[in-house]
Formats: sequence, C-alpha cells, structure tokens
Amino acid sequence: MSVKGYNIIKKVIETKGEPVISMTTGGTPKGIFKLFVEDIQNGLDISNTTIMNLDEYVGPQDSVYTVRTFMYKNLYNLVNGEPKNIFLIDGEAQDTDKEIARYKEILNQFPRDIQLLGLGTNGHIGANEPGTPFDSTMFLAQHDESTIQSTMKEYGITREEAPTEMLTLGFAEILKAEKVLLIASGKHKAEAVKALLEGEITPDCPATALRNCDNAIVIIDEDAASLLE
Ligand code: F6R
Repeated sequence: MSVKGYNIIKKVIETKGEPVISMTTGGTPKGIFKLFVEDIQNGLDISNTTIMNLDEYVGPQDSVYTVRTFMYKNLYNLVNGEPKNIFLIDGEAQDTDKEIARYKEILNQFPRDIQLLGLGTNGHIGANEPGTPFDSTMFLAQHDESTIQSTMKEYGITREEAPTEMLTLGFAEILKAEKVLLIASGKHKAEAVKALLEGEITPDCPATALRNCDNAIVIIDEDAASLLE
C-alpha cells in the first residue's frame, strides 16, 4: 500500500514544475513518509515542492499528537533538503476564523496536485466526522469519541491529554485537489472500507464523498479489503 501510494506522490513531484502536496498524519501514512525520506536522502529534489497538511489538532503545538510534531518528526527533521514552502495550520490560533481565512488563502494560491488521506474507523476523512454535510468548507471540528480513542492509542496518551477538536479542510476543499489519494490498512479499517466502497453514498460515512468525484484513488491492503464482496 505504501509503495503504491508513494509512487503516485513521487510521480507528481518528478513531473510537475512546482508540485503542491498536501499530506495527512497518523499511523497509516508512516510507510509513505519513510519512502519519501529515503528518496530525498538519495537525491530526490524537493526544492520546488510545496508541502502542506489538511488538518491540525487544537492544543499546544509541541504536543506529541499534533500534525506539526508528526511532520517534523517524520519528514522535515530527517532530511537536509528544504521544500519550497511548508504550510501548517496553527492549532494554537486564538482567532479560529482568522486562521481559517489565512489557510484558505494559501489553498487558493497553491492549488494542490495531490491530497493524501487516511480513513477513520468511523469513515471520517480529515476531521469530517459522520454527519458533516458534503458541502463543508474548512472548519473547527469536534472529534467523535471513537476518533479520540484512536488518537489516544496512536500516540499513547490519556483521555485527558487527547485533543477533542481539529481545524480541518472540509469536503469542498479536500475534493478540489487534482488527485485525492486515500490509503487504509489493517483489519480495524475493514468495515469503514466496506462502507466506503460498497455502502450508500452518505454523510454517515464521510469517505463515500470520494465516490462523487472522478479524481479519487483508493489504495488498501488485504486486511482492510477483507470484508469486501
Ligand atoms: C490525521 C487525519 C485523520 C487520519 C485518520 C486515520 O491528520 O486527517 O483523518 O487520517 O484518523 O488515522 P490512522 O492512520 O492513525 O488510522
């Protein structure tokens, strides 16, 4: 899954003059980040590449769980080469509306060639939890309990330490990327993958929004595919 997913990202970096890549964080994309770091260390030029993210937890930005911490730990701190631009959402911003306006302006200035996505066990993408309308634009999202539990597990933190809110791109912005690449692995994602690919297209399973557009690619491993007909 990681190799197939990474090769799509790599092709964009190698073929576009000024590539714009928007990443996701969490357990699933770690393999992709590893391959990306290896390639940069072996000479892949990212000096023309802009790298950004689709969401950020609200809370102290030096916390173990933030998108910022993940990006520095799994990419920016590991390579010598600097991307052309690094854009991150500020999860400590006092004025959320202003931060959303600032980031939306960046999205307008830097149309994304690719948006990488993971998949929540409840079908969420970014922090668009079940029930979020399909026309959502960047907003401050409240996490479902299952998402809070997943974050606790992924980062080894307690319920009290776990973030409950996230600034996230909405469906409208996510689907605007030239390519939308969703990756999922493991048996714990099998039900969400089945709902995504074989269920009804509905905000109850946010990822099904991808079936309304023709620029989406879904890459899953055997365990995640295990409930498919
Ligand atoms: C994180 C994000 C989330 C994750 C999803 C899956 O930046 O946007 O939507 O992609 O919760 O997380 P993992 O990969 O840890 O199972």
